[in-house]
Amino acid sequence: MSTTAPESLGDAARSFIASAPHKLLIGADWVDAADGRTFETIDPATGNPICAVAHAGAEDVDRAVRAARAAFEGPWSQLPAAGRSLLMSRLADLIEANAEELAQLESLDNGKPVTIAAAVDVPLSVAHLRYYAGWPTKIEGETIPVSWPSMFTYTLKEPVGVCGQIIPWNFPLLMAAWKLSPALAAGCTVVLKPAEQTPLTALRLGQLVQEAGFPEGVVNIVTGDGETGAAIVDHPGVDKIAFTGSTAVGREIGEKCGRSLKRVTLELGGKSPNIILPDADLDAAINGSFQAIYFNTGQACQAGSRLFVHKDHYDTVVSALAAAARGAKLGPGLDPSTQLGPVVSAEQYERVMGYIESGREQGAEVVAGGSGANGRPGYFIEPTLFTGVTDDMRIAREEIFGPVLVAMPYEDLDEVARRANDTEYGLAAGVWTRDVASAHRLARLLRAGSVYINVWGPSDAAAPFGGFKASGIGREMGHANLDAYLEVKTVWTSLA
Ligand code: NAI
Ligand code: MG
Repeated sequence: MSTTAPESLGDAARSFIASAPHKLLIGADWVDAADGRTFETIDPATGNPICAVAHAGAEDVDRAVRAARAAFEGPWSQLPAAGRSLLMSRLADLIEANAEELAQLESLDNGKPVTIAAAVDVPLSVAHLRYYAGWPTKIEGETIPVSWPSMFTYTLKEPVGVCGQIIPWNFPLLMAAWKLSPALAAGCTVVLKPAEQTPLTALRLGQLVQEAGFPEGVVNIVTGDGETGAAIVDHPGVDKIAFTGSTAVGREIGEKCGRSLKRVTLELGGKSPNIILPDADLDAAINGSFQAIYFNTGQACQAGSRLFVHKDHYDTVVSALAAAARGAKLGPGLDPSTQLGPVVSAEQYERVMGYIESGREQGAEVVAGGSGANGRPGYFIEPTLFTGVTDDMRIAREEIFGPVLVAMPYEDLDEVARRANDTEYGLAAGVWTRDVASAHRLARLLRAGSVYINVWGPSDAAAPFGGFKASGIGREMGHANLDAYLEVKTVWTSLA
């Protein structure tokens, strides 16, 4: 199998790629798929294959679930809480020690600027593990004052068990850290499936999990596609599913988990409104709104993809954003001067270009971008801005998940709150204003899991994140996500 490694990769990343075909981590071992299948992960900046990766099927998933069960019932449950903390801290240290390699692998596999991977994805992954590494020794039950004086009643918080974790390609390492950290802190074991577009950093993470000294089977990593993911969801030995990805697949997983009564958390799509009020600091609002949509080439679930600008500032904001979009430097992620990388895959390229086409067909006007970056290989799309958009157009209603913004004027606060909420989604919303009362009035009115005031998209392991409505079920981060990996057991003891 041929492997390609761009010139700008360091030795560590280069040798990781050269060690392909990459295998599945099941129990203590790295193994081929039972049927020997592999797939190629693609460099989105060129469209060329990077290397081959094992494609897990149902049989491999079954072995991974068994390994996770054995670890859950065996060594992992014997380890004191402080032992889990220590291993998680060691894993965080190892990610930090290998930060450059991980950032380069992420940039190569996903397409994102290596500068962003190094400044955001990798350090946030470290911070996430460190935050949750503090939790194991603080998971406490309660004593309950029931109505019988002769009764001693208390609760235990116990790990849910074996968790299937299915993650997307937009922040591959960070999504792995988001999922693994609370599960491990709670004392669960895991079968993790990275997205087929971006398996590399999860596989490198699997090596670091071993190096940190986790007992075998606590973390199993199976690479593959939706079929592999479905095998995890369908497996009767899995107690909980945690999923981040499309709302369509989230609905399917939710339905299956409803039937099997597996625990489930879903972090899904969005069409997040971003509102500029008449009194906003316009420079800050324009910069923030640019980042809100174009960061990570628009491939963020909380992307601020519907911009509502007060009519008095509409023209000013639109022309500033259009100029910034035209000036943004597109390029391969591994080029340190790149501001916007390609979208992740040929499929996403087609999907996003299809939305741009639908916007034109439905009568909206492209004021910046609007085309694929022609004349170069890879999946590049110019940062695109639409005006003349009505609330019912597809580009205003559906998640595009690419560098495409719709800007719409509004007149008053109640009107904009109503229009902002007129969506099936409810992940995030932004408000730009200097007026405290308007800010907090809107914060209450907006039906979204996160509201950003004079900022867009800050993220911290301690702060819950997740969706209202079709944007999901449950919360990532904070103690809210820890609870998603715990069962409450009530123990009654008669002292009579
Ligand atoms: P997807 O939802 O199909 O894939 C996400 C993960 O789920 C991947 O690991 C995939 O292998 C797995 N998967 C796919 N089908 C499955 C199934 N039936 N059962 C279990 N696991 C399954 O997302 P895709 O196709 O990569 O992207 C499509 C759209 O989804 C994007 O355009 C975007 O709108 C949205 N999306 C949202 C994300 C978010 O962060 N909320 C992340 C990625 C995509
Ligand atoms: Mg890839």
